[in-house]
Amino acid sequence: MNFEKLKIEATNKADHITIIGNGILFNADCFDIFPFIADNSVDLVITSPPYNKGFWSRNRNINNGFKTKSRRITYGDFDDDLTPEDYETQQRNILKELCRIIKPTGSIFYNHIDILYKHTTIHPKYIYDFPLKQIIIWNRKNTPKLDKSYFFPINEYIFWIKKDLKSIPKFDRKNALFQKNIWDITPAVKNDFPAPYPLDLVKNCILSTTNENDVVLDCFNGSGTTCLGAKELNRKFIGIEKEKKYYDIAVARINKTLEVI
Ligand SMILES: C[S@@+](CC[C@H](N)C(=O)[O-])C[C@H]1O[C@@H](n2cnc3c(N)ncnc32)[C@H](O)[C@@H]1O
Repeated sequence: MNFEKLKIEATNKADHITIIGNGILFNADCFDIFPFIADNSVDLVITSPPYNKGFWSRNRNINNGFKTKSRRITYGDFDDDLTPEDYETQQRNILKELCRIIKPTGSIFYNHIDILYKHTTIHPKYIYDFPLKQIIIWNRKNTPKLDKSYFFPINEYIFWIKKDLKSIPKFDRKNALFQKNIWDITPAVKNDFPAPYPLDLVKNCILSTTNENDVVLDCFNGSGTTCLGAKELNRKFIGIEKEKKYYDIAVARINKTLEVI
């Protein structure tokens, strides 16, 4: 993948672009950058979209009938507050694009949760229309959610998706940090970003499904943990983040590792 060419082609669609080490970071909407990423060109996607909690957390306390506390994460100007139908359409469109750009040997690790709402579980069911290789449970071990109506919800899902039903993702379990499909990983300590990935989660995906110099992408790059993991493990990386302040955090984090190296 030629990042200089990508930078020139996408320049009008991004507010900022930085080529940094062996990767490229875009301050842009991922939908504006996808058209510049060729079919079958990416080895691995690790990504965690906003969970649309803005929509579900409205009136939550009243609906549950208990006095509860829930942690509302907001991402700058991104409202995280779509109707469920619009959210599902948006996520389906992203997953279609991700299946298009990964290689037949590629993998997508798509992180999501169950939303607990009005004593009901809202599961991201649309995921089952995509070629699902395996479901991984991320055991966060703890939760900030103190809602008395439920067992403490301490899991997230990592849906491992492949290009199509016939494709076989590259995989070597021996290289993984966590070899079972339940990954016990305490959430990362907050940096200046509300919801950073733990670095070990990212590294587990990278080590088990890619080789050095393969291309790793995160289209909801946030503070850039996916790109940082890729950088540290000598993989190429592409990060796309809509909010300038998070893009800046990612650039600073990756620059810092480059200085150390
Ligand atoms: C859950 S966070 C990702 C956190 C990231 N994994 C980390 O370790 O920091 C989701 C991010 O997606 C960004 N975002 C939301 N919609 C976007 C879009 N259409 N294109 C690019 N980024 C978007 C938000 O600003 C937010 O930073």
